[in-house]
Amino acid sequence: VTGASTGIGRAAALALAEKGWMVAATARSEKNLAELSARTANCKGQIHAYAGDVTDRNRVLEQVRHIETEMGPIDLAILNAGTHRPMPAAEFSSDTLRQLFEVNVMGVAHGLEAILPSMIDRRSGRVMIVASVAGYSGLPMASAYGATKAALINMAEAMHPELRRLGVILQLINPGFVKTPLTDNNDFPMPFLISAEEAASAIIKGLESDRFEISFPWFFTRLLKLARMLPYSIYFRIIRGLVRP
Ligand SMILES: NC(=O)c1ccc[n+]([C@@H]2O[C@H](COP(=O)([O-])OP(=O)(O)OC[C@H]3O[C@@H](n4cnc5c(N)ncnc54)[C@H](OP(=O)(O)O)[C@@H]3O)[C@@H](O)[C@H]2O)c1
Repeated sequence: VTGASTGIGRAAALALAEKGWMVAATARSEKNLAELSARTANCKGQIHAYAGDVTDRNRVLEQVRHIETEMGPIDLAILNAGTHRPMPAAEFSSDTLRQLFEVNVMGVAHGLEAILPSMIDRRSGRVMIVASVAGYSGLPMASAYGATKAALINMAEAMHPELRRLGVILQLINPGFVKTPLTDNNDFPMPFLISAEEAASAIIKGLESDRFEISFPWFFTRLLKLARMLPYSIYFRIIRGLVRP
């Protein structure tokens, strides 16, 4: 599980360990990972900490080799590490865009490059990519974040059928608002906000099926899917209401 030091990744790692999985947890914060791994003393499974930065390609390749040597082949990878920075159109910055792409897109790409060859060789394995409903269609202040998540959605759609033929299940996780350090700074009301534990249990439930997309909470994500089907004239009339003066 990448991005396991806080939020959704942390809750997913704990839920997996409670179910008996041997979990390799990664993030940059060694302290948070050590605390997380100590929490599994009474669990059926265990969490092993592997600190690292997903933007460092060589480090990710080395970590995956390390994990597979110590713990055996990876059956399930949850590529969840991500970050968010609001970017108003008037403050458009290629630096912000690049930084978000480095973590949210290239971080996932490094994970895929590291784990897929062995899964394809074994004709078995499951990968979950955590994108966001912000990738469905453009939302105010989210031109950088939404673009990274739209890229992940498109990339996963492109790869899913090919990987399926090769015996690897690729699933896309699209959460709505989840209460985590990432959303704690949001200064606007977040409709249908759920806890990280609720998000983790939706992800774990997704393991029981081979469904391509796991999106939650159900009603909010369906509303946003409907919104993206609207003609732009109507879509922008609704979205203009969310634009701050
Ligand atoms: N919360 C929501 O409402 C929401 C909605 C839709 C999608 N998502 C997505 O869900 C995922 C998890 O988000 P969250 O809400 O749980 O946020 P979070 O609590 O801020 O967790 C983000 C995780 O990613 C890790 N991370 C960030 N940059 C990293 C880097 N360069 N290298 C390695 N790890 C890095 C962080 O750990 P370190 O800082 O220790 O590295 C942390 O463990 C993200 O992809 C986010 O976009 C969240």
